[in-house]
Amino acid sequence: MSIAIDTSIRAGVSSQALEIKPISGPLGAEITGLDLNLPLSGLDLARIRMALVRHNVVVFRDQHITPEQHVAFSRRFGPLQVHVLNRFHLQGHPEILIVSNVIEDGKPIGLVDAGADWHSDLSYMPKPSLGSLLHAQELPAEQGDTSFANMFNAYETLPAEVKQLLEGRRAVHSYVYRYRRLQKLSPWRADLTQKQIDEVPEVEHPVIRIHPESGRKALFVSEGFTSHIVGLPKDESDALLRFLHEHSVDPENVYRHQWRAHDMVFWDNRSTLHYAAITPQQLRRTLYRTTVEGDIPV
Ligand code: SIN
Repeated sequence: MSIAIDTSIRAGVSSQALEIKPISGPLGAEITGLDLNLPLSGLDLARIRMALVRHNVVVFRDQHITPEQHVAFSRRFGPLQVHVLNRFHLQGHPEILIVSNVIEDGKPIGLVDAGADWHSDLSYMPKPSLGSLLHAQELPAEQGDTSFANMFNAYETLPAEVKQLLEGRRAVHSYVYRYRRLQKLSPWRADLTQKQIDEVPEVEHPVIRIHPESGRKALFVSEGFTSHIVGLPKDESDALLRFLHEHSVDPENVYRHQWRAHDMVFWDNRSTLHYAAITPQQLRRTLYRTTVEGDIPV
């Protein structure tokens, strides 16, 4: 049997003076004392990972890092997923998706409406994302917040009869379903090519998933990517998904992140949904996103 040893442990890298400060509200913590320009020890990584699982979203302030460092840090948590919209990859860094409302030479430099409805990143993949790391590049003086909903709470606060109704149910997640819906609202979404469509066939996942690291149950459906619940008539599935959506994004269950320059935000896609309204074009907003691959949901 081979045992994986973190290279930072082997190299004897010393730990940074991390402090984890929970944000008051349903989720979130700020991690201070971390500088992503310095080497990270195995202990630093373990503490970040534990904070992520416990608080669902962790915020690192004032990180002056290059795209290479962003990718290298993200990779410490698992393999990275490459987004199907290759048009918005950062040049030379296909693991980075540009999220931006900036138009240059009449063309968008990034995906302007990446967060335009509530979703969990890449839930349409057979192995949905463990988490996403979003690093602020250029921020407007106002607007541009990102909101996160706690999907452990969403499950735990469901009425008993709804929990029973959902037990053992599966739902379909589809990239193309969401894309075509957003396409009606956004002039920047060109038609997908057949190759892109073939890369993201729809998938089924359990409606309630067990978090692989904490063992807690989380609701795993979203307004964005979940087209329907398997085995229910369309009107019943639509009504149930609408109910679950409204229940999940109740303001009491949401943390709204107001971005500061050079913030890096790391969220757990297995236990949160997120949303960011499109920021008007005159308020320039650009962020770089990586997504770490997770497990097959159970
Ligand atoms: C996203 O959905 O990954 C983008 C979120 C944002 O624009 O803040």
